[in-house]
Amino acid sequence: MATGTADFVVIANRLPVDRVTAPNGDTLWRTSPGGLVTALEPVMKSNGGAWIGWHGAADEKVKPFDHNGMHLVPVPLSNDEVEEYYEGFSNATLWPLYHDVVAPPEFHREWWDAYVRVNRRFAEKAATVANEGAVVWVQDYQLQLVPTMLRELRPDLRIGFFLHIPFPPTELFQQLPWRREILEGLLGADLVGFQMPGAAQNFVRLVRQRVGHKTHRDMIYLPDGRTVLAKAYPISIDAAGFEELARTPEVIARAAEIRESLGNPRTILLGIDRLDYTKGLRQRLRAFGELISEGSVHVDDAVFVQVATPSRERVQQYKLLRDDINRLVGRINGDVGRIGQQPVTYLHASYPRQEMAALYRAADVMVVTPLRDGMNLVAKEYVACRYDDQGALVLSEFAGAASELKSAYQVNPHDINGMKSMMLAAINASPRENGRRMKAMRKQVMENDIELWANNFLEELTSDRELHEKNPRPV
Ligand code: G6P
Repeated sequence: MATGTADFVVIANRLPVDRVTAPNGDTLWRTSPGGLVTALEPVMKSNGGAWIGWHGAADEKVKPFDHNGMHLVPVPLSNDEVEEYYEGFSNATLWPLYHDVVAPPEFHREWWDAYVRVNRRFAEKAATVANEGAVVWVQDYQLQLVPTMLRELRPDLRIGFFLHIPFPPTELFQQLPWRREILEGLLGADLVGFQMPGAAQNFVRLVRQRVGHKTHRDMIYLPDGRTVLAKAYPISIDAAGFEELARTPEVIARAAEIRESLGNPRTILLGIDRLDYTKGLRQRLRAFGELISEGSVHVDDAVFVQVATPSRERVQQYKLLRDDINRLVGRINGDVGRIGQQPVTYLHASYPRQEMAALYRAADVMVVTPLRDGMNLVAKEYVACRYDDQGALVLSEFAGAASELKSAYQVNPHDINGMKSMMLAAINASPRENGRRMKAMRKQVMENDIELWANNFLEELTSDRELHEKNPRPV
């Protein structure tokens, strides 16, 4: 059997680096700010690890290269594949379908064909990179067919899969014309990880109903004798890293500067999201606008800063959302603003981690109101930065984080009145009340960081499955 050199392989749609151009014109790669790479970097370094992913540009072949002790293996995508596999099937079919169809998913056969083709390319690449018996960890909804494709090529590998987004209720998943193929694709893994226990249960139920395999609790029994474990591993952040950053004099000074430039209002509310229709931006801005127009909050007293990071800009639903939010912000500021007093400061841009930490430090109320979200790491980042035990978190009950951050001001983002009263409660809470809530949330976030998450997953993946003995095969 032809094998490669890496004992640990991560496969994700994107490589963990961004390409930047230095002042002298040289092209450099910079590690992307995400938590996943922070957690996996040490494992990669100590295992001669490799990361397989798309480097972000269409119609371009980039040779494998080493970066920060990691071996990076770019997978090329043609322009058509970016449209059909990435923007199409991944982000206009699966993304809305898996997020409670908050936007209508589109089903196109040619998008599916591209998804199959590109998944095969990732699997073939992994088959050449992985050493005999290596551990391979496949990430997220863009690559759900890779586990089985890879197992067919390399049965010697230990394969894990983690879904970073929600797995939908069975009734919604059934809409997918290729539902069986997706389930069978995932079953190539030894361990399939989800954010929430309910998602793992949905998956197991679907496998039983649609594929007909026997299951017992979180275990799936395949006819060839193999077993697949489906379990929840709620993801987290580099909590200590965020706290450390928030404590730096630069961030503290920048937070003060932000407050100053907003006119030192009594309350700063903050939203930071990718500009995505799952995030509930419209609902939260409407709620805030109404609080001001009804006089529950005075325009001199509060500012809402909304950072919306540009995302998937060529996908139709994202274009519509962008126009929609532009109009809504314009309307609120036009209706209730005064000269020098814009109630909403809207920034359609992405910022480095340091600026985010300063914004978190400056914000009295963090507003995180997705209509559906696998976890939501912004909520956890805010908590990690509030080492002063102050600040309030308004959090949608439809974010995975809600089951961990129980002391947040939890809201149903579809209920505008309910959201208004919770935002008002957060704005008017005493420091004592906020301190009590924040302390409880900080205990959760600081004790359950991304390193623990990665270790838990990898330990289960590489264990000898004594679990099999505990859960014997049903007859
Ligand atoms: C979500 C997904 C990730 C994805 C990220 C950014 O967090 O779970 O897989 O990488 O969004 O989206 P993008 O389409 O820019 O990769």
